[in-house]
Amino acid sequence: MAVPAKVRVAILISGRGSNMVALVEAARDPAFPAEIVLVLSNDSGAEGLSRAAAAGIPTKALDHRSYPDRATFDAAIDAALREAGAELVCLAGFMRILTDGFVEGWAGRMLNIHPSLLPLFKGTHTHAQALAAGVRLHGCTVHFVVPELDAGPIVAQAAVPVRQGDDPDSLAARVIVQERRLYPAALALVAGGKARLDAGRVVIDAVPSEGVLFSL
Ligand code: GRF
Repeated sequence: MAVPAKVRVAILISGRGSNMVALVEAARDPAFPAEIVLVLSNDSGAEGLSRAAAAGIPTKALDHRSYPDRATFDAAIDAALREAGAELVCLAGFMRILTDGFVEGWAGRMLNIHPSLLPLFKGTHTHAQALAAGVRLHGCTVHFVVPELDAGPIVAQAAVPVRQGDDPDSLAARVIVQERRLYPAALALVAGGKARLDAGRVVIDAVPSEGVLFSL
């Protein structure tokens, strides 16, 4: 039987890239439906770029400060993605706001991971936001990217308890463990055709893995 072609995925990062490494490691499994063809950063000093290179993944740095505006920078990213033959894009700690035109060009083909249970706690400092709100459950979300920040159809979520005495760092440490499990699981669903967009929501055709809350 012919092995189905793997979906070509590019990952955009700005920092340490631990979610990116989790995706790269998951994609080593021959049964994983995606392959990582490019890791791109807006910061040539991003730790994640050297981690990707060490894993044998092609890397590229495009410094946003060398472009006159967001649209020109986004056009350069778009060109790099197309040159790499990317079919899906994963944002993984990519700290630049993308223009609506870029996002619309990748509509239904771009995922992001956000460190909260969306729609709660959009933006930055999500762990401090969760502590300030006094929630007992916090977590992370993988969603399709739409022009509105940290919105977009939710593919999968994972939750963690908020413990007495947590501070933003201890909570972040608990959430990132789940992020690194959730993102590969969500990418496998999307790349494997088991999660599809239908009228602005994600419909999933799979049995949830333990501890991963799919929107079923
Ligand atoms: C993660 O918490 C991600 O959700 C957030 O930025 C952090 C990136 O961490 N948006 P890493 O670079 O993947 O280690």
